[in-house]
Amino acid sequence: MGAPEVARPGVDVSGACSHEAGHPLLENVIVLSNDRVAEGVGVIVLQSPRVAAAVRPGQFVHLRIAEGSDFILRRPFSVHRAEEGRIHILYQVLGPGTRVLSEKWQGDKMDLIGPLGHGWQVPNGVAHALLVAGGLGAAPLGMLAEELARRGIAVTVAHGAPTASRLVGRDVFEATARRVMTSTDDGSAGERGLVTTLVERALDAERPDVVYACGPEAMARIVAAHAAGADVPCQVSLERLMACGVGACLSCVVATTEGQRRACVEGPVFDAERVIWDATGIPPKHEESAWHL
Ligand SMILES: Cc1cc2nc3c(=O)[nH]c(=O)nc-3n(C[C@H](O)[C@H](O)[C@H](O)COP(=O)(O)OP(=O)(O)OC[C@H]3O[C@@H](n4cnc5c(N)ncnc54)[C@H](O)[C@@H]3O)c2cc1C
Ligand code: FES
Repeated sequence: MGAPEVARPGVDVSGACSHEAGHPLLENVIVLSNDRVAEGVGVIVLQSPRVAAAVRPGQFVHLRIAEGSDFILRRPFSVHRAEEGRIHILYQVLGPGTRVLSEKWQGDKMDLIGPLGHGWQVPNGVAHALLVAGGLGAAPLGMLAEELARRGIAVTVAHGAPTASRLVGRDVFEATARRVMTSTDDGSAGERGLVTTLVERALDAERPDVVYACGPEAMARIVAAHAAGADVPCQVSLERLMACGVGACLSCVVATTEGQRRACVEGPVFDAERVIWDATGIPPKHEESAWHL
């Protein structure tokens, strides 16, 4: 396949996809902690010195959670934070893999391949970035918020969730962002309503230089449309079912204006303008009930 999707000039904070660069990294990791942070959501911290040193914001790891027929396929997880030989993964319990992940104890061992994929890019001249996190979409944005803050780039976060207790990843945003705007579907924190309303307002009032979004694809599509309307470049992190995670099986393709692209190699971060949203099956407009955070 061709060049990375996000081809705007700028600084690539993602690093090259490790296996494409000829450095596949299989690392044995040890669980340092595993804490529940919301209903059905946990943060697992892994001792993973080689990946922690190499990973860039927006990249992911492919984790072998356990042995047995349910776990032949590794599961992909964004690296939420990386520091001092450790990586943090923010995960939601959905099926057998994430359920077993939630039952890991300190000292348990697993292995992973990573860092994988093409992450966020910071275009030249960016002084102010708007990060949009819908629910678990906060996962790949934590490292990015930290990296932008380190570079002196002002960060505004629009953070949405169904209810207050699901506003996960908040600690990183509050530590790094100049401003965190919040919405919840039930009004239990911040404004009642959708995070896309906050995005519209922030684009208008704050004129960010770039938008980074991750969350349900219906949200990402609307954020992309708002950003395009405001003539602000937008990058989106898209999830696909992944089998191999290294570009071989084509289970993860995303339709783009440049053809089918593999989310595990050319993504998961894509230039929103190049995504063919109609091919995702997501309607351009959606009802509130269509949200799944
Ligand atoms: C690049 C990438 C990064 C991801 N980062 C995170 C993360 O940081 N935190 C997190 O909680 N989850 C993340 N996911 C999703 C995560 O990989 C799945 O939730 C997990 O594999 C489900 O495994 P399971 O065995 O628990 O459930 P399964 O039984 O495999 O699936 C349960 C449900 O989850 C859906 N699902 C399974 N795999 C995926 C997937 N790859 N993408 C979207 N939906 C899926 C299934 O369709 C099903 O509805 C990421 C996915 C991708 C592709
Ligand atoms: S998961 Fe196999 S090509 Fe992407």
